Amino acid sequence: MNTKRYPKGLESIQTPFYYYDTDLLRTTLASIKNYEDANEGFCVHYAIKANANPKLLSIIQEYGLGIDCVSGGEIQASLDAGFDPRKIVFAGVGKSDWEIELGLDNDILCFNVESIPELEVINEIATKKKKKANVCLRINPEVGAHTHTNIATGRAEDKFGISMEDMETVIQLTQSLPYIHFMGLHFHIGSQILDMADFEALCERVNELQDRLEAQQVKLEIINVGGGLGVDYNSPETNDVPNFKDFFNTYRERLHLREGQTLHFELGRAVVAQCGSLITKTLYVKKGNQRQFVIVDAGFTDLIRPALYQAHHKIVNITSDETETETYDVVGPICESSDVFDTDVVLPKTKRGDLIAILSAGAYGETMASQYNCRPLVQGYTKDDFA
Ligand code: LLP
Repeated sequence: MNTKRYPKGLESIQTPFYYYDTDLLRTTLASIKNYEDANEGFCVHYAIKANANPKLLSIIQEYGLGIDCVSGGEIQASLDAGFDPRKIVFAGVGKSDWEIELGLDNDILCFNVESIPELEVINEIATKKKKKANVCLRINPEVGAHTHTNIATGRAEDKFGISMEDMETVIQLTQSLPYIHFMGLHFHIGSQILDMADFEALCERVNELQDRLEAQQVKLEIINVGGGLGVDYNSPETNDVPNFKDFFNTYRERLHLREGQTLHFELGRAVVAQCGSLITKTLYVKKGNQRQFVIVDAGFTDLIRPALYQAHHKIVNITSDETETETYDVVGPICESSDVFDTDVVLPKTKRGDLIAILSAGAYGETMASQYNCRPLVQGYTKDDFA
């Protein structure tokens, strides 16, 4: 057992399960907080879609972060975890009436609105409640994020957001609706972005749009640049805290904030990815003619990223003390050929009962879990549970 990274007692828990290194989470949050405090007007919201485990939420909340939600369920989970409703931003292309009501009833900071019909429905519901809804408009900045196509957004033809071309028309509509308070603009260019040039391009675009609006006497209180900062999936053990320095410095140096404006971020993956591992047990080692398979008890119901996005997660054997290595395909038990965590993985010679950790799984792991094949929903444990 690799006891440096994993506590004693881990081996007696029913696999598969998520294990969260809450010390690493705290280190990551402290780093974010440093940059937030050092830059006037910066407000970081945690994108709860990345991981809504209540134990993690309660820690994230302690650091005073705001929160970014995309559903009524996420708003409720945030409130339950003690997040300040005045720091909730609420995005999503398809907000239901009850979700809009929940946001209004809790006086959230703002709705990030993605279309004209949505704007009209929010105005209608707000009118009934005689309560003004704060609104930012999500604009597609059309700056390319070089990432997997399933997680790239912000292009003109995405289902998300409003095109730059329509921006002024929608702002005018916003200002004409009695129960809407227009606050600013929202952007998000994609996820798992490691090249700061993409964020620089977004800054340039935001500057252009601000200049354009200023010439028309449109003032913005809020600029929200979304999330997207990537993590190192190849070397998570040595590179466990994301590059917040370059990320926040890019925005400080490149984006021209106006007097009194606040700049909002919605970071998900960068906050939680590296603190989480999916722990699974080796059921069988099967020798084929050409390949060898390590068949584990976790499947894509527990971590869907490899099957859905061909995502790479580093895989390690945490119980073996074998020095000899072999090459394996690490696969799950689900009756689908896409249930493969990775191929050609070099591991110490692995045997039935060995514990395998799939690393960098804290973001979009537990939250995307399912119960396909009537499998139990995967559970999460933290380092604090073993203290
Ligand atoms: N803000 C908006 C409007 C978003 O759509 C997202 C993510 C975020 C913030 C947070 O992005 P992050 O900082 O985590 O990159 N399930 C996929 C990722 C989907 C991202 C969806 N939107 C994955 O496992 O890679």
